[in-house]
Amino acid sequence: MVMVSRDQRYSGRGQRIVATYADYSSLSLATAALVVDEACKAVGARGRFSLALTGGSTPEATYRFLATAPFSESMPWESTEVLWTDERCVSPEDPRSNERMAREALLDHVPVQSERVHPIRCAAGEGARPGSHTADAAVVARACAQEYDALLSSHFPVRSDPAEPDPERACGGAVGALDLVLLGLGADGHTASLFPDSKALREKRTAAAVFVEGAANATTTAGDRDLWRVTMTASFINRAACVLFLASGGAKAGVVREVLQGSGDSKRLPARLIDPVGTLRWHLDEEAAALLDSVGERN
Ligand code: 6PG
Repeated sequence: MVMVSRDQRYSGRGQRIVATYADYSSLSLATAALVVDEACKAVGARGRFSLALTGGSTPEATYRFLATAPFSESMPWESTEVLWTDERCVSPEDPRSNERMAREALLDHVPVQSERVHPIRCAAGEGARPGSHTADAAVVARACAQEYDALLSSHFPVRSDPAEPDPERACGGAVGALDLVLLGLGADGHTASLFPDSKALREKRTAAAVFVEGAANATTTAGDRDLWRVTMTASFINRAACVLFLASGGAKAGVVREVLQGSGDSKRLPARLIDPVGTLRWHLDEEAAALLDSVGERN
């Protein structure tokens, strides 16, 4: 792997790596292999591994690879904690639920212990429907964000601020941080549920509730608009040992270039807030990488 040397905007705390793969399938295969590798290293070093899954469609093939041999058999599931970067406030059966996608593609097929799986359950009765900007949905989403903050803070206690690298971690990361965070990238520059101009971008706690308005986020799909969500914050994600962005397809080429090589600020391009204490990787396919000046490794 080659370090990104042209991109001066990252802090340079940990390694910054951009890898490009021929297509979506090879990107997903390489990502599954990396998850297993990071898991085995973390369990070897500290006896446990924490993984934050992301939503959207891009990680689905990675999850399906992880659910099948040889990946499923090499993963230390008994020592793995599973969390989500963010969730739409819909029921876990809803087609828009990130939990549902991860369970169907991965978790229902592997021997992960249920007490180690921590979904974000933020749906109010009425909040499960699009267009439900009701006080109820807001109250439930905010209460859920508080509960998620409490869970994350107890599992991953902040021992220093600003986050200091943990000398016990080979690949970097702050003391008490997540081992691996998977992230997607929206065409508007959002990642997790950190949307342009959102107050959540400045949140210092580990989790926040966010209302995603249709008009403000025209690039999100219709079913995703006017919906409450709960998200990990950038300040928490940035404590991680390793953060991995996945982007596939020509529709992402423009925003990938803007985030990696443009000059837009992080208020407009929230993905630019992600600058972890540990390693930052990007896995792109050729189409998503098409507009980048040549950096990183081609696989
Ligand atoms: C979600 C996400 C979101 C997603 C991007 C990319 O719940 O939708 O966490 O940040 O990763 O919108 O989505 P795609 O992978 O579908 O392009």
